[in-house]
Amino acid sequence: MSSPLSQPEVWQAVAPHYAAELVPTFEHYANEALDLAGVGAGQSVLDVACGPGTLAFLAARRGAEVMAVDFCAGMIGELAARLAETPAAIEARVADGMDLPLESGAFDAAFSMFGLMFFPDRARGFAELHRVLRPGGVAVVSSWQPMADVPLMTTTFGALTADLPPSPPRAMPLVAAEAYATEMGAAGFVDVQVVATRYPVEAPTIGAFLDSMERTNAALIPVRAALGPSGWAQARARAEAALAAAFGDGPLVGDFPAWIGWGRKA
Ligand SMILES: C[S@@+](CC[C@H](N)C(=O)[O-])C[C@H]1O[C@@H](n2cnc3c(N)ncnc32)[C@H](O)[C@@H]1O
Repeated sequence: MSSPLSQPEVWQAVAPHYAAELVPTFEHYANEALDLAGVGAGQSVLDVACGPGTLAFLAARRGAEVMAVDFCAGMIGELAARLAETPAAIEARVADGMDLPLESGAFDAAFSMFGLMFFPDRARGFAELHRVLRPGGVAVVSSWQPMADVPLMTTTFGALTADLPPSPPRAMPLVAAEAYATEMGAAGFVDVQVVATRYPVEAPTIGAFLDSMERTNAALIPVRAALGPSGWAQARARAEAALAAAFGDGPLVGDFPAWIGWGRKA
């Protein structure tokens, strides 16, 4: 069974808040990815599963010409709104990262930050990145490390989903570090490398943290739908108590460990 995160609808629901609330943190990962690929002026860059253009705007600021695609029309709408405020060399399109409507060999660097990891067929996602790169071009892909390694998330999700039946088993949604070499290698990439990285998020209160999770976490959309309004209110109260017991009442600080992997098209 595929993850709900492989459907555009859940991303549509969080798109209106994503740019304001998540982009400032996600930009740290994007800048690290751009540094790893050595993106600079005059390069042709592709951002797959671009969201509201987190990496795309940073790449354009470095002088690159950017094509940005996402299968969620709401995310592309948010990108367009940002572009109206801050014009940049970005063309944006609604498209599936597993079937890119783009010419082969067109890009110097291709990225998918926390996007390809959710594709139901990652092999197709990697193959498409490989196809659209010129020989010598670089692909960079990031993924979250397993949620089980992030106490803030296990506490939050454990409390919010306690009344739901366990999720049916499905294919591993995360790309483990070792999987980069295997999966990128299978797509034809060479010189594959992976780094571990992490950046902090801070919320002034537990309530503010849960409010933001409600607005921006796509995985919670199906949880809320399954619980209904009163079930969700109970789950939220349980999460507040669990977070206070685990982390105290003060500001909540957590960090989100991720992998960034990259490889070259021979
Ligand atoms: C966690 S967000 C990351 C957005 C952005 N890359 C960033 O770093 O802020 C995941 C994005 O992947 C997009 N996405 C998921 N599956 C996709 C697919 N098959 N094709 C294109 N976009 C997809 C979602 O719509 C969402 O915008």
